Amino acid sequence: MKPIIVANWKMNPAILMEAKKLFNSVGRGIRNIKKVEVVICPPFIYILHLGHVKYNLRLGSQDAFWETKGAYTGEISSQMLKDLGVEYVILGHSERRRYFKESDEIINKKIKAVIVCGLKPILCIANLTQLKKSLRGISKKVIIAYEPVFAIGTGKPCSISQAKKMRNKIKYPQVLYGGSVNSKNAADYIKKAGFKGLLVGGASLNPKEFVKIIKTVDES
Ligand code: PGA
Repeated sequence: MKPIIVANWKMNPAILMEAKKLFNSVGRGIRNIKKVEVVICPPFIYILHLGHVKYNLRLGSQDAFWETKGAYTGEISSQMLKDLGVEYVILGHSERRRYFKESDEIINKKIKAVIVCGLKPILCIANLTQLKKSLRGISKKVIIAYEPVFAIGTGKPCSISQAKKMRNKIKYPQVLYGGSVNSKNAADYIKKAGFKGLLVGGASLNPKEFVKIIKTVDES
């Protein structure tokens, strides 16, 4: 199983031209990467404009609604995303839990819809309660991203030993680490803590730094 490195662009960059520039720089920078799967999760509205087929990049989204279509103003379904070439969907990110009051029940419905659609869910959790509740009734092995809230966007990454302890408690084959990942600490989460990939926020907006992260994991 290849490690996967996921770029969560969040609500960035501010304009499409910058998004294209960032995407192209990363795409060019990882041409020789063989051992890592790289997934870019841009804001929904940019997805259609990023020509991932040109590069060795996969597309993901940062959320998806649980119904396929219907009267749900402002929402976007997994089916719509799949149709545009999206393969992965991040769900339950701590910012969605915090700002949009997404509960484990809502996240559970969303994961099920993503699975039915044939896309790969990446479930973000900060603790084992969220893991258990969000996956109720789901037997398929989903990708888990362990993201301690104190480490997200703070520049204060989780220590390798603490992350490793948590990784060992999550009994899933593919567990990613997320929270203040940079090119200096990236390889340690894989080599020392046993994670099978990374979820990168801030550092994924800097193409040089993001490519460096990918290369250190590819070489490790
Ligand atoms: P960060 O964000 O890398 O900026 O800490 C990670 C995330 O929110 O997934």
